[in-house]
Amino acid sequence: MCGIVGYVGHRPAAPLLVEGLHRLEYRGYDSAGLAVLVDGRLETRKAAGKIAELEKLLRNGGQPIGTCGIAHTRWATHGAPTTQNAHPHVDCHGHFAVVHNGIIENAGTLRQKLEALGHTLRTETDTEVIAHMLEEAYAGSLEEAVRAALRQVQGTYGIAVVSTHEPDKIVVARRGSPLLLGIGENGENFVASDAAAVVQHTRRVVYLDDGEMAVLTRDGYRTASLQGGAVTKEVIHVDWDLAAIEKGGHPHFMLKEIFEQPETLRNAMRGRLLEEEGMVRFGGLNLTPDELTAVKNITLIGCGTSWHAGLIGEYLLEEIARIPVEVEYASEFRYRNPVVGPDSLAIVISQSGETADTLAALREARQRGATVLGIVNVVGSTIAREADGGIYLHAGPEIGVASTKAFTSQVATLVMFTVLMGRLRGTLSLIQAREIIAALRKLPEQVEKLLGLNDQIGELARLYKDSTNFLYLGRGYNFPAALEGALKLKEISYIHAEGYPAAEMKHGAIALIDENMPVVVIAPNDAVYSKIVSNVEEVKARGGRIIAVVTEGNHELKNKVDHLITIPETIDPLTPILATVPLQLLAYHIAVMRGCNVDQPRNLAKSVTVE
Ligand code: AGP
Repeated sequence: MCGIVGYVGHRPAAPLLVEGLHRLEYRGYDSAGLAVLVDGRLETRKAAGKIAELEKLLRNGGQPIGTCGIAHTRWATHGAPTTQNAHPHVDCHGHFAVVHNGIIENAGTLRQKLEALGHTLRTETDTEVIAHMLEEAYAGSLEEAVRAALRQVQGTYGIAVVSTHEPDKIVVARRGSPLLLGIGENGENFVASDAAAVVQHTRRVVYLDDGEMAVLTRDGYRTASLQGGAVTKEVIHVDWDLAAIEKGGHPHFMLKEIFEQPETLRNAMRGRLLEEEGMVRFGGLNLTPDELTAVKNITLIGCGTSWHAGLIGEYLLEEIARIPVEVEYASEFRYRNPVVGPDSLAIVISQSGETADTLAALREARQRGATVLGIVNVVGSTIAREADGGIYLHAGPEIGVASTKAFTSQVATLVMFTVLMGRLRGTLSLIQAREIIAALRKLPEQVEKLLGLNDQIGELARLYKDSTNFLYLGRGYNFPAALEGALKLKEISYIHAEGYPAAEMKHGAIALIDENMPVVVIAPNDAVYSKIVSNVEEVKARGGRIIAVVTEGNHELKNKVDHLITIPETIDPLTPILATVPLQLLAYHIAVMRGCNVDQPRNLAKSVTVE
């Protein structure tokens, strides 16, 4: 899940490429590089590390002056994150430069073939083989050379290619990794992995689909299929602007996005709640009430935080809509023989809409006859375009690698979907539905109030920032919230943390507990409150230090735990949303105090577009 950007126009390409890379850095930040055509020659600059290292190189080594170029920020899959392995990769004679997002599964075989033909490959990457194959295939048409080279490639790719043979042109192609064209005004065009890299220059984009390619020049662009033949594509208007991808005065995107949650929850509900009828309306489901009622079972599919939202969805749909639900890790679902068929509804959950395993699971479920809905945040993303119907979160761009606002909107959306299914299946009364809708309406203000705890939670973080382990416990709807709290801490502070069903703790994890083990217990006033109080006692009995998340006005645990975080009163299904916000803040502050890069944690990237 690298970031690709390309520019052909009349302005100096290098500064535009670097600016575009900055907008894509959340996709991967192991190394960066660019290639610009200068007087018919290819000039490349590459540096290991953040884009700032590439900028330093350009400042010291001189910016290549040309108006056509490609660039890349890397998340290493094949070959260590070194300068040598940074993209772009070139052929033996420096006539072709390639940037690539994806994995070439048969790179080993292709490398042997090329070496047997006398090529010298200089890097450990899979991508470099493409540059040499272009050198082999070129016979006067760059477009045809790209086609010929990609015909031999097994795996996934989003690529952009420039060549000294055809200096004012960028050829791009996609199979498996996202790629879009930014249609400029006045003689310039862009290519990028996502709209964040071009929105400053144009909001008119063309999303490429798998098996498609395009040729960009300063005068225009052509889209075609890899098999040959023109393809007509719709130009989409991006409905957000630069401000959405700026920090807005916050020190980090993650904190900005945590503080955006009152507004993003309002956006997720806007125009969808029908109090009077006790109903919920989604514009893009593409399913009639009869088709929804005919569904026999639901499979919720996702990865990471999206899988946690799915787990809450299982509790919601089984309890309220009384329909059998399975929750699946996409990476497991796609390779096991799952029982889904024409009576099944598969709901794939993905913030980015580009996660490779989730996309493949979507295709697997469809291939088995299931109807597929997408719950997605990124408009125009591949999952959103390939699903039969779907629900957008409308949370705006989420730049921080650790998902925050998308999660709370995913859960709120699953609650709304559950109300719809419950009403259609007759398992939820008008009164009950109105109660849930009223509670949903209160959420944004309640989260606003919770954000007021930011400083208090900062103080708490100071006490626990040097911990080496953490345990998060929850029951019912809050077991997945415990998993999510633990994931947030793990991924940005690098502290080992585990989320656990509180009762399950007695069957093993309780052995981990002593005075050095901080234990976060999510204990709102819900149907299982009395049960989790006994779990608190069990932890206390082993000397564990407890941070309890409790409902306002609950003083019972005050003397049983070390710290209390109070959340507003709400209905059980919504408690995980309110409980997660303070846990997002706790993880954030601990990570900042440990000097971690919370927006770009090590070894991670925002959307995982490779297997
Ligand atoms: C969450 O903070 C992580 N960034 C990661 O687990 C993420 O949820 C996962 O990669 C799924 O991403 P998606 O929702 O974009 O598909």
